[in-house]
Amino acid sequence: MVKANHWSKIASSHPLRTHHLESFIVNVKLNETENRPTVPDALRPDNPEVRKGLFKLYRDFFDKAERRRRWSVADDIPWELAAKPTNPAIADVIESFCAVELYLPDYVAKAMPLVRTNRGWSSFHANWGYEESKHSLALADWLLRSGSRTEEQMADLEGMVATNEYHLPQDNAVGMLVYAMIQELATFLHYRNLRRVAQTQADPALNKLLGLVSVDEAAHHAFYAEVVQFFMTIDRAATLEQLRRILVTFQMPAVHLLADSQKRVQAVKALGIFDQDIFARDVYLPILKTLGISHRELRRGT
Ligand SMILES: [Fe+2]
Ligand SMILES: [Fe+2]
Repeated sequence: MVKANHWSKIASSHPLRTHHLESFIVNVKLNETENRPTVPDALRPDNPEVRKGLFKLYRDFFDKAERRRRWSVADDIPWELAAKPTNPAIADVIESFCAVELYLPDYVAKAMPLVRTNRGWSSFHANWGYEESKHSLALADWLLRSGSRTEEQMADLEGMVATNEYHLPQDNAVGMLVYAMIQELATFLHYRNLRRVAQTQADPALNKLLGLVSVDEAAHHAFYAEVVQFFMTIDRAATLEQLRRILVTFQMPAVHLLADSQKRVQAVKALGIFDQDIFARDVYLPILKTLGISHRELRRGT
């Protein structure tokens, strides 16, 4: 459960919204003892309406991705221009992001059974896995080619990821959908903001790489947001109940499994890449706006 000071901090960074956010905290506390909401049959992946809707959304996403967003790790990044950053914290953060991306086997294998009865949804997940696999490849290549890490250090990183297994934060497909919508936006911001920091380094390879990766993450978020909006047309209250619960407990995936996880989170904060204020301003509020939900409606859960 989210700590009270987390939301107090968000509230203080948004003075106009302080009253609403404080009320929200109270409401969350009141519901702490409630059981997790059950997912209605209408939102299950095998509901024919959900199958049909997801397939259409996936085909649109896939066709657009094929036309506009495919890129090559080998050919589209000017690797010969990769340079060791003057600020070693940049390489440390890239190593952390690479490690989180390296948990892909768990992200794919553990979520796929939840959606296997839905062709569009499972195909999206397979395609998503392909796109995500390029992210760890490109980040690892940069760590090596810039001279920031050795082959041995990269082997140690892979070993650490292989040792600690990641478990899904939600136990049902709708919960994972809502979680992924939030997580992809947060991940986009991590890369976009890191790119802004890295632009001080005159490294065209890193700049291009972070641009390509952040466009992928934005596309993933946009797809999930469309699916959540579709689910809201089927059962708005049940979808919002998932959203309300997951928004207030959100954490980035897998970071806690890494060695020195606190230090890694601190490094991200110290570079101004991501923190609770950025979450409130650039994730929480924009998601409500995208979905057309008022804070009051989310708080009520109706
Ligand atoms: Fe990624
Ligand atoms: Fe992504």
